[in-house]
Amino acid sequence: MEEDRLLSSESTLEDQGLDHSIRPADLDHYIGQNPIKENLKIFIQAARERSEPLDHVLLYGPPGLGKTTLAMIIATEMGVNIRTTSGPALERPGDLAAVLSSLEPCDVLFIDEIHRLSRNVEEVLYPAMEDFFLDIVLGKDDTAHSVRLNLPPFTLVGATTRAGYLSPPLRDRFGVISRLQFYSPDELSLIVKRTASVLGTSIDQEACLEIARRSRGTPRIANRLLKRIRDFAQVEMDGRIDKTVARTGLERLQVDEAGLDRVDHQLLKGIIEKFGGGPVGLDTIAAAIGEERHTIEDVHEPYLLQIGYIQRTPRGRIVTEHAYKHFNIRQED
Ligand code: ADE
Repeated sequence: MEEDRLLSSESTLEDQGLDHSIRPADLDHYIGQNPIKENLKIFIQAARERSEPLDHVLLYGPPGLGKTTLAMIIATEMGVNIRTTSGPALERPGDLAAVLSSLEPCDVLFIDEIHRLSRNVEEVLYPAMEDFFLDIVLGKDDTAHSVRLNLPPFTLVGATTRAGYLSPPLRDRFGVISRLQFYSPDELSLIVKRTASVLGTSIDQEACLEIARRSRGTPRIANRLLKRIRDFAQVEMDGRIDKTVARTGLERLQVDEAGLDRVDHQLLKGIIEKFGGGPVGLDTIAAAIGEERHTIEDVHEPYLLQIGYIQRTPRGRIVTEHAYKHFNIRQED
């Protein structure tokens, strides 16, 4: 359903393919994540001055915060090409060998969902990252032999929703490890303003902030909400987005005052109504509301933890007083 897609944090073709123009092209146009940006500027300048590839970079954090965008910007700022693939797409060592041997010196290889690499691909990746060579086994049984393939020096940029999913030997091979943070409403408001300007949509300051406040700290959600509100404004009004247009649109998209969507509501109300506010285990709550455990863990929980609506305890998740207040439900003693 369109509505599910709109509210989920998963990327779509629209986000990844047709929409390059709304991605910032360089670090100066990338809003937020200031500590990461400032450090990257230095590391990139240093690598360029030495005519070396940038050290391998691991970007982690909840979906939609700009990991792919940053990978592209790193390549642009280094003045090199980027090749993009993902953990699940690299099924066999040969798949990795094919990508790596197509790189030019100092190029960026971006592996999204790097925690989903298979073990045997991961093992081939270690010497590639450390010493820029691959040992590939050719032939079978009696004729099996390994050949060494030298690679151009390259930069691996890996992205994952959680660094805890990575095996320690892989994590240890990254020279730069950066955790992306949720964006502030002011930062998101600037992003909405910038995207509206790229799309040629007229929007006022209050409307930018209204969308920003309800985007769960996530640029991908802010940009999607903006696009759908632009649709309402175009079809039913004169195309301009002010605070009233934004508020009405957000209501019709079932995004509440705190930016919570239908799944957030099911999750919080499920714990309150079915489990007395918790503690309840993640698998139990996932089964009770019919959502995937991983979707809850990676997409919904991080923001609810950040705003203090749920807490993780050794015995499971509990819903806090803030969430009860949000729903106007009395907390029983
Ligand atoms: N669009 C999406 N994320 C962005 C960011 N961090 N800065 C500018 N534009 C963006």
